[in-house]
Amino acid sequence: MSNQALNDSRFTKEAAEWDSNSKHVESTQQAFDAIKRYVPGFKNGQSKTMRILEIGSGTGLLSYLLAPQIHSLIGVDTAKGMISAFNTKRAEISNPNLSAINHLLTDPDSPVLQAACAEFESSGAAEPFRFDLVVSHLTLHHIEDLASVFKTMFGCLKRGGCVALTDYEDFGREAVRFHPVSKRPGVEHHGIKRVVAEKLLLEAGFEAVRVEEAYVLRKKVDEEEEMERVEGEMAFPFLMVYGVKG
Ligand SMILES: C[S@@+](CC[C@H](N)C(=O)[O-])C[C@H]1O[C@@H](n2cnc3c(N)ncnc32)[C@H](O)[C@@H]1O
Repeated sequence: MSNQALNDSRFTKEAAEWDSNSKHVESTQQAFDAIKRYVPGFKNGQSKTMRILEIGSGTGLLSYLLAPQIHSLIGVDTAKGMISAFNTKRAEISNPNLSAINHLLTDPDSPVLQAACAEFESSGAAEPFRFDLVVSHLTLHHIEDLASVFKTMFGCLKRGGCVALTDYEDFGREAVRFHPVSKRPGVEHHGIKRVVAEKLLLEAGFEAVRVEEAYVLRKKVDEEEEMERVEGEMAFPFLMVYGVKG
């Protein structure tokens, strides 16, 4: 089974319980706060006009935090169960400004994405739809080809748009402990390396690139042979991976 298929199966199984894990909620709230610090639209009053694409939207933890402050958001996620959980929440609100599709996005002009944009954003224009902001939380480490996904994100943006992506940092061998052993299959990267993300963003065409620690999440980890002994919770730095399409 491919890592993608493993992930899709794992996240479909975990979707119903996803939001009841307090660490998922805490880390998403911190990601949301970081996005508001980095993306100018949240500081200069322009966020209400922003059309957002979210890669790996899951149950919508981040999407539903963003929703009141933006124009609209389309999420893509490869796990059917995550999309169902997202849609269960969506059914409970009137006039939702967010939507999610079960899709592996590898092309900004993807007919599946463009059809969703035409329907949801009422974009009847001849030109393919482009976004003001791409966000993604805790998803990059599940994507094997980061160079390729950064290029796709670049293509999905309008000029002047930006990416604000959050994930835990690969700070060395202990970073592997973010996932218990049982959840390691399907993990493509045990965290994101700063220098790698920075280089790949620049190669994709981004400007004003910043890859830096945005916050720290503390959580319990299992004791493991040949690893440091951890009293209480272990600290995991989270990176903001930011760049602008000039
Ligand atoms: C750790 S979960 C995070 C979900 C959500 N962002 C959150 O923080 O609650 C990773 C998510 O990425 C999705 N995913 C994995 N690979 C993906 C890919 N190539 N494209 C889009 N979504 C993907 C998974 O299905 C899962 O929903």
